[in-house]
Amino acid sequence: MSYLSLSEIKSGMTLEQVLVSPDGKMVFGQGTIVNDCLLARLNDWKVEGAEVAEEAIEFDFAEIEKIISVVTLGMTDKPEMKKMVQHAAELHMKIETELKRIFMLTRYHGAVPMDTLIHLVDKKIYPRLSQLDSFEQLHTQAAASDYLYRHALDVAFIAGYLGRWLGYGDGDIWNLTLAGLVHDIGKTKINFEMLSKSGRLNADEFKIAKNHTVWSYQLLAQTEFVSTVVLKAVLEHHEKLDGSGYPYRLQGNEITMLARIIAVADIYDALISNRYYHKGISPQEAIEIMVFQMANQLDTHVLACLIENLAQIGMIKIPVLYNSAI
Ligand SMILES: [Fe+2]
Repeated sequence: MSYLSLSEIKSGMTLEQVLVSPDGKMVFGQGTIVNDCLLARLNDWKVEGAEVAEEAIEFDFAEIEKIISVVTLGMTDKPEMKKMVQHAAELHMKIETELKRIFMLTRYHGAVPMDTLIHLVDKKIYPRLSQLDSFEQLHTQAAASDYLYRHALDVAFIAGYLGRWLGYGDGDIWNLTLAGLVHDIGKTKINFEMLSKSGRLNADEFKIAKNHTVWSYQLLAQTEFVSTVVLKAVLEHHEKLDGSGYPYRLQGNEITMLARIIAVADIYDALISNRYYHKGISPQEAIEIMVFQMANQLDTHVLACLIENLAQIGMIKIPVLYNSAI
């Protein structure tokens, strides 16, 4: 770590101190990755310099592409190939670690470090959406203690993939990725004890936990970077088409399309993931629950898209009663 003048600070370095705008409305927290947008802001604020970690964090996408071709060709049993696949998993872990830091900063400052989040989407998540290995990577398990961060990252990827598979344009796919990443960021207002409870939440705790959609919305609405479609997707991600969801018990077309996609991504990932109170189930079992128990609650077009694509990459067999059920 060292103090550098503003002209010496470059994109990719990490802030090691908190910087606040002159009007006190915007904060770049410790741990924020510097990007061009942030540098322009610091220039506007007439900041002379800052404490930074100089080692730039960069991901080598050419290397990732090489890894994908290896995975696709089924050559992962060779030792050198195993090493490359492991490298891809390590990159995924690095993104997760960065997201964990963003959630921690949000918890302690009560504000989302949006610049860092947007940099993460732009540079490290969105570019990987064209690579199928990222989707399969979502099916590796994380420790239950890291569920909040791993789940956020998984939902960002799954929602982004669903957007691509459904034929959405780049802008909507980007919005879906960001919405997936932050849909549960309001849970940073819930204490660790409740978040890590090993049993199911009791009625009072569940009532508190259900506020997280509104808290996510409020945290994001404080910033100037988040569009209305992302805000609605976050606020409505627990609404259900049959009106049984929360916070507003919206029905059918009252729920925005992006919120319906986040809902499918959220439920699928929650079912296949290890959590404090349940062990992740297989993609096949998860899809069967979604088809046979939740068909009235979820957007059938979105669910069908997930099923078809999971079947295409061999992760599930299409449920026998699929056609009559949805
Ligand atoms: Fe949620």
